[in-house]
Amino acid sequence: MNKGRCRAAILISGSGTNLQAFIDRAARGNLDVDLSLVISNRPDAYGLERASHAGIETACVEHGGFTDRESFDRALAARLDEHRPDLIILAGFMRILSPWFVDHYEGRILNIHPALLPAYPGLDTHQRVLEAGDHWHGSTVHFVTEQLDGGPRVLQGRLPVNSEESAAELARRVQAVEHQIYPEAAGWFAGGRLRYRDGCAWLDGDRLDEPIVMDFD
Ligand code: GRF
Repeated sequence: MNKGRCRAAILISGSGTNLQAFIDRAARGNLDVDLSLVISNRPDAYGLERASHAGIETACVEHGGFTDRESFDRALAARLDEHRPDLIILAGFMRILSPWFVDHYEGRILNIHPALLPAYPGLDTHQRVLEAGDHWHGSTVHFVTEQLDGGPRVLQGRLPVNSEESAAELARRVQAVEHQIYPEAAGWFAGGRLRYRDGCAWLDGDRLDEPIVMDFD
């Protein structure tokens, strides 16, 4: 890790409400992470505007021009490495990362997934939770490994499901939880409390066999 504050790059593909949560925390002086760069793979991602408005450098690396996943990832990493990031924060980045990329930043990539992993990896989590009649739903911050949505879990925000609500309403409630837990977990990493070692997440020197769980309404 670089000496001094933790330098983070955020990767997005869309709206960037999680990015906004980081920006808002930083504006309140309540974030141990320096947001040095935001990269999107889509030029029309609204999150790029959010970042520019906050004075954060932005870049777009479009995936369309590359013939294979690793070539794109190498171009992405070339932009990232200009900023010497200590931490890569995936915030709605809709690309599967190659083994090369995951290895290049081993133990330094966090993702947030809108489900209580290991339940519901993949897409359409809110609809699937409602259809299954689950009583609990939420979101998980985890380290990224080669296994999609399968890396060591760090922090979960959990909330009760209201069986009457729509998938869109449930998604909105889950996102509000994400905006609390993601900057929190990134702050743990920045402060040196959270680390990835031997394929596991460690918090304050203890191996996290289960994630920390925070309950919300
Ligand atoms: C979040 O719900 C996150 O869980 C998922 O992608 C979504 C991104 O939303 N990985 P936003 O772009 O941060 O609003």
